[in-house]
Amino acid sequence: MTFDFDEPVDRRGTHSSKWDGMEKRTGVGAPDAIAMWVADMDFKAPPAVLEAVREEAERGVYGYYNADGSWQEAMSGWLKRRHGYEPDPEHIIPVPGVVPGLGLILQAFSEPDDEVVVFSPAYHGFNSIITANGRRIHNQPLINEQGRYRMDFEGLASSLSPRARIVFFCSPHNPGGRVWTREEIRELAEFCEANDLLLVSDEIHQDLVFTGNKHLVTEAVAPEFAHRIITCTAATKTFNLAGAHYGGVIIPDDAMREKFRKVVNRSGLASLPLFSMVLTEAAHRHGDAWLDALLPYLETNRDLLAERIAKGIPGSRPMHLEATYLGWVDFSGTGLDQEAVLDRIGNRARIGASTGAQFGPGGESWVRFNFATQRKLLVEALDRLDEAFSDLAKGLIAEGNSCCSAESCQVPLRFG
Ligand SMILES: Cc1ncc(COP(=O)(O)O)c(C=O)c1O
Repeated sequence: MTFDFDEPVDRRGTHSSKWDGMEKRTGVGAPDAIAMWVADMDFKAPPAVLEAVREEAERGVYGYYNADGSWQEAMSGWLKRRHGYEPDPEHIIPVPGVVPGLGLILQAFSEPDDEVVVFSPAYHGFNSIITANGRRIHNQPLINEQGRYRMDFEGLASSLSPRARIVFFCSPHNPGGRVWTREEIRELAEFCEANDLLLVSDEIHQDLVFTGNKHLVTEAVAPEFAHRIITCTAATKTFNLAGAHYGGVIIPDDAMREKFRKVVNRSGLASLPLFSMVLTEAAHRHGDAWLDALLPYLETNRDLLAERIAKGIPGSRPMHLEATYLGWVDFSGTGLDQEAVLDRIGNRARIGASTGAQFGPGGESWVRFNFATQRKLLVEALDRLDEAFSDLAKGLIAEGNSCCSAESCQVPLRFG
């Protein structure tokens, strides 16, 4: 079966956060603006998912969903097929999204003012859910070693506070696209054991991994520490079902799982939404071929974005992504300050991207570009970026010039 990822899908006017919420969230409101921010894709879901939804819709009766465990079996089967990890379906607790799952974990296993360790820059949802729950974030900056992030355990050991209870580990990492190695994951698990920390492994990007890399499930790599490991995952990122907003929290330890289940029940979340369950189960059962076709398409987009940005914007440094469809580009070498960079991207190129600062310390000079879109649209975005930075490429700007031709421009430049 072939899948057409080039098929354009007009998402404007569809309650799409990415397209209809772009102006509000990124400040980029031009009628022809291109959305490259929030992490969902512009592709239709796998045909098997569309079919399952149609069948459900056509039935016309949308009563309460019977949670008979088939959803958990489908997730466990997927994890076994794709990652060699087969959790007991009984250990998987459905939650209304991975971020809500993280919130419930915080409520079950920490107290207000406790600290949660995050390796920054990191997915901004971590910060939001930690602070919304009255916990404190401990940002441990990643070390950028020749364009590749690594965790700094020495730094963490010396800065860890006695209030630290939990680590939110993003695997693969967003942003930066690292696929962590066995040694790195084991070192983290051992660190958590030595410091009595709960290791929460957010593996929502587990399937979006490129040639030459293999995602390793934290619990599978460090099974002797399973009593302090929780895995959070979902079908929603892999199959572009973000709006279904359902995922699984996998807790092998019986006592911990019961504690977590109580928080879920207390919040009235034990009853599950019909359509979300149908969509995500169909994806896990029948989505293999679609994903196998999607990955090379995304990989070509990844390479195109990195090559064109590095060539068209002197001094920019796209990080080499081992996973995810979220291009992560450092603009510190361009000589422009971040305000000028964002002005060019948002106002000149009319691209709604994600500013790096929201990913925490270490992200300030970076911008994240979601490239999970039709190739033609990506090329259009890259052409616009070339144009928006063309004066840099031509070396036309001299120190003291403003960043754009507008007479009112107050943005000074710091390069010659
Ligand atoms: C690492 C990570 N976790 C969680 C999420 C969101 O999960 P959900 O939509 O299920 O809350 C994202 C979305 O980009 C993410 O990158």
